[in-house]
Amino acid sequence: MHYLNYFHSEIDFRALAEVHERLQRWVNQQKKGFLRYRVPYEQLSTYRAVHTECGADTVTIGLAEEVAAQTQQEIKEQLRCFMPWRKGPFSVFGIDVDAEWRSERKWNRLRERLPDLSGKIVADIGCNNGYYMFRMVPLKPRFVLGFEPSVQHYYCFKALNAMAGFENLDIDLLGVEHISLFPQSFDVIFLMGIIYHRISPIELLKDVVAALKPGGTLLIESQAIPGNEPIALFPEHTYAKVPGTYFVPTGKTLENWLLRAGFSEIELFCSHPMSSEEQRRTDWMEFESYLDYIDPEDASRTVEGYPAPWRIFLSARKP
Ligand SMILES: C[S@@+](CC[C@H](N)C(=O)[O-])C[C@H]1O[C@@H](n2cnc3c(N)ncnc32)[C@H](O)[C@@H]1O
Repeated sequence: MHYLNYFHSEIDFRALAEVHERLQRWVNQQKKGFLRYRVPYEQLSTYRAVHTECGADTVTIGLAEEVAAQTQQEIKEQLRCFMPWRKGPFSVFGIDVDAEWRSERKWNRLRERLPDLSGKIVADIGCNNGYYMFRMVPLKPRFVLGFEPSVQHYYCFKALNAMAGFENLDIDLLGVEHISLFPQSFDVIFLMGIIYHRISPIELLKDVVAALKPGGTLLIESQAIPGNEPIALFPEHTYAKVPGTYFVPTGKTLENWLLRAGFSEIELFCSHPMSSEEQRRTDWMEFESYLDYIDPEDASRTVEGYPAPWRIFLSARKP
């Protein structure tokens, strides 16, 4: 748990270490559900890329010419153990991983609005395989901690970063519910694709503001419904076929939530409708995707008859 060194003494290190160790004991069990990701991680971590590139749309970790053809085939087989790949694109030793999401589009919308990350302590909550963490590398953060409770994504990030070798990136199996273990700890927090999955969005935002240092910045992205009314959709069961979706706000509603949670300088800087160009089935994600969630007769509605999703992006400061 090397990342403790990056935090100050206001943190209850013992409580954090207890949570970390409990999660490590859980994930280190010799059970099929863990081994299916741990074994490919261990195999992939024997390779170390010479060339890495995180400044372009595709995160490149190693070039084809760095490995023999047979080795490249083995790497591909190991990478496919992490399917379905949700976030990307990546190129790993010449293997192109075309993920379900064109995550570079989200990054490009954010990029102009990012605070200076250089020398900063950053959290990426729900970091998935770390695509955005890798994109932060050229901006020279001191340290980025990814929170990710999914074993699949946790080991996928660990495999990618073992090959890439970025020492200022790390991941833990923590969820956003553990953010209160980090009082006044982060200069910047990314909270993307998370808030509509939380049963108490305001309490979550209060915990997030408490985890920022004074003057720190939140970058938040959410699924949204169109319109400017201060309302939120609360689906009966699923929204766009996704269970565990609670409050889907308009941009105005998310602004109000942020304000009432204690943020200032709130700015909605981007909103756009979702599309099947950005989220789609690929060779690396063979399940249902955006088009399967939308009414085939009316693209402005989900299959449940709710307004089809938009995406909104806001920045906010802790006073
Ligand atoms: C919709 S994806 C968003 C991924 C990424 N942040 C993005 O914006 O593209 C939600 C991510 O949160 C992770 N997640 C699930 N439960 C979580 C929790 N309790 N706390 C934090 N992340 C969680 C999922 O495994 C998944 O990687």
